[in-house]
Amino acid sequence: MLDIQTATAQPHVTRRADYTPPEWRVPDIALDFDLAPETTRVRATLSVERNAGHGPLRLDGAGQTLLSVMIDGVAVNDWRLENDALVLALAGDAHVVETEVEIAPDRNTQLMGLYASGGILCTQCEAEGFRRITYFPDRPDVLSRYSVRMTADKARYPVLLANGDPVAQGDLDDGRHWAAWNDPFPKPSYLFALVAGDLACNSGSFITQSGRTVQLGIWVRAADVAKTHHALEALKTSMAWDERVYGREYDLDVFNIVAVDDFNFGAMENKGLNVFNSRYILADPDTATDYDFDAIAAVVAHEYFHNWSGNRVTCRDWFQLSLKEGFTVYRDQSFSADQGSAAVKRIEDVRGLRAAQFPEDAGPLAHPIRPDEYQEISNFYTATIYNKGAEVIRMLATMLGAQAFRAGTDLYFERFDGTAATCEDFVASLEEASGIDLTQFRRWYSQAGTPRVTARLSHDVGGGRAVLTLSQSVPPTPGQPIKAPMVLPLRLKLFGADTGASLSDERLVLLEDDVAEIAFETATERPVLSINRGFSAPVVIETDRSAADLAFLSAHDDDPFARYEAMQQLMLDTLVAAASGMQADQAAVIAAIETTLDNSALDPAFIAEAVLLPSESFVGDQMAVVDPEAIFRAREALRREIGRALEPKWRAAYDQAAAIGGYVYSPEAKGLRRMKTVALGYIAASGAADAGALAFAQFEAADNMTDRQGALTTLVSSDAAERVAALDIFYNRYCDNALVLDKWFQAQALAQRDDTLAAVEDLARHRDFTLANPNRARSLVGAFSVNQRAFNAASGAGYRFVADQLIALDKLNPQTAAKLLPPLGRWRRYDAGRATLMRAELERILATPGLSKDMFEQASKSLA
Ligand code: PHE
Ligand code: ZN
Repeated sequence: MLDIQTATAQPHVTRRADYTPPEWRVPDIALDFDLAPETTRVRATLSVERNAGHGPLRLDGAGQTLLSVMIDGVAVNDWRLENDALVLALAGDAHVVETEVEIAPDRNTQLMGLYASGGILCTQCEAEGFRRITYFPDRPDVLSRYSVRMTADKARYPVLLANGDPVAQGDLDDGRHWAAWNDPFPKPSYLFALVAGDLACNSGSFITQSGRTVQLGIWVRAADVAKTHHALEALKTSMAWDERVYGREYDLDVFNIVAVDDFNFGAMENKGLNVFNSRYILADPDTATDYDFDAIAAVVAHEYFHNWSGNRVTCRDWFQLSLKEGFTVYRDQSFSADQGSAAVKRIEDVRGLRAAQFPEDAGPLAHPIRPDEYQEISNFYTATIYNKGAEVIRMLATMLGAQAFRAGTDLYFERFDGTAATCEDFVASLEEASGIDLTQFRRWYSQAGTPRVTARLSHDVGGGRAVLTLSQSVPPTPGQPIKAPMVLPLRLKLFGADTGASLSDERLVLLEDDVAEIAFETATERPVLSINRGFSAPVVIETDRSAADLAFLSAHDDDPFARYEAMQQLMLDTLVAAASGMQADQAAVIAAIETTLDNSALDPAFIAEAVLLPSESFVGDQMAVVDPEAIFRAREALRREIGRALEPKWRAAYDQAAAIGGYVYSPEAKGLRRMKTVALGYIAASGAADAGALAFAQFEAADNMTDRQGALTTLVSSDAAERVAALDIFYNRYCDNALVLDKWFQAQALAQRDDTLAAVEDLARHRDFTLANPNRARSLVGAFSVNQRAFNAASGAGYRFVADQLIALDKLNPQTAAKLLPPLGRWRRYDAGRATLMRAELERILATPGLSKDMFEQASKSLA
């Protein structure tokens, strides 16, 4: 007998190099569901054909009860179960295999396979959830045509949806009814979906570029229909955008989206039937912030774009995940950039990359965008696969130029339509269409770690010549001690320090070797370097630019991202110096902020981003050993000084932004609301006596969630008398709205206060707290673990709290638990005391009986 310890001590590792084509194809599958929450019966009829090899048919399974097996219409008993897989010896090369199983949606707390969420029955199959529904070769390179029939109680489940087009429906005499759906496009099992529920629909239509009418439906609880208009508009905009920008037209006659409250990720691109976490569908001004509205449009677009980048062309195996995810994130980022300020969108995306992906690349869980091995594939839905993956596609687009990039994606879609492709297929398509050799560029797919570039600019006085010396290095990562140089596309430009004039056109430099020298003919004035403009490569740039040069660029650079970046660098240098006990030049930061605030040519949305200090975590990432207390103190001190020195300007900016009047959703109005809350934050940081009253007045008068949450966030981190009242009012007003209540939990978990941990421990016992809902778990435990100072309390109590919660969550929902583990794995970045405490919690997690393989992989790799 194997006990759990031995089983988990030798985890099964899946390796990319071991890929072999499937032995059996399944051209067609018919599914018949007899739906009920306690017990659902699933009959599957698979037509199977031998593809390669001589082995038996092996069908993946997990957690179901097998009732019967038939081969070619005859019941058989000579099957065997091997590690949950159903193994059948088949005599010929083509057969019909029928199985009947029972599953229990009500008891499915993992939210993989068929499960119940708020009275709705729905499915989640990516990556390996289909095997929890029926026996099937659950791998993305087995493509089948699906026909689905389902029967359910008509009163409880009046709406029955599945992939593809509706075929027929009817009533039965026992209060039940049925519906049949057919999806003509062959697809892998991870794109299967079914939904049964009491749902209402916001419907619309879209006429494609070839003139076909597509019926669109967003399905939610009846009470929520009014909150679906933004999502529906975003869907139509996305459909038009993909036609215009990528030439991609939708292919079925219907496109449905269903929103459910319990969901492990953001949303899922099931063919013709997207299933969404309700937080990425439901919005109105009273309950959703501008950030939420933007995120909804981005996720709706993302899932819609998958219809081509993911569904029509899917992945050969899960190592190719970034083929669909990196490309689709790049597509949704470009879409969002086209809807408002492209510069602000780029700033937000880079901030996200630095917050989530850079630490991953620098830690024990670092992996290339195309990993070489995994224990549990759910652990690889990471910022590296998604966001660094998107940066890699962006670099390709930059290097090829718009036209050749489009020619490349056209070739890719044409050539691989209807197939399961690889990252190599994508790169080769771009290479062939553009004629550009991408041999060395392919290292971005195989090497992990964030490259570092050092840039030194020298200039001979009076000579009119400048020389830029660039060097690169890629740090070692687990399993990859030595790295080869990467191809780094760096957009750069020189400005004159005296006149502010451009001394050169922008150049795209490809740094391919360890070191390179680039010469510029310039005017005689001293040049200042603007580099990695637009964040053209996802790297860390180290320069010796002075505070004065950074301030100069923050005021004069003609690339908005580079302006922002210069300001961030100036702030970072100051904060790192202060946190390390060195002399820090606050005056330069304050002056640069003042110049930005005074520049009436700038968009308020941009100003609001530019004047924000880098996060505590990002400051910590620049230090050899993170000192959370020192960083917190340095950052608070700088915030106070910025608040004080510029107080009249913050008040003027606040009043100006507050004067916009009633709520409208537009890029301009969003920018002003953002500016308002940023200004409020600095007024509060200044210690002004009326700050609490001002925030509370904004909180009470707000006609939208952006202003209300902005004020609440400011109050929650303060000692203002109004703090508790605001939290209570907010709770009472929204206690029936789960998505808004998540904001209430999250605001308190992120609070910058000495008593945050104690408050969070209380909140974990609050009657509205539950680990069973992933959004709620993330709003408290996830938010707390990114609160750098509170989580890293020297006592270790923050670590213990998170580990306790994750151990409990793992028993319900391993996937969601494992996603929240990485902050505990950052122990190498801290002093010995904290490192020991973090390791002890990881050890405690690993020693938990019955630990999931999801958590085992994350915790064991984090300790290594
Ligand atoms: N494929 C989904 C997306 O990118 C993410 C997802 C993965 C959702 C796994 C659920 C489960 O949008
Ligand atoms: Zn995706």
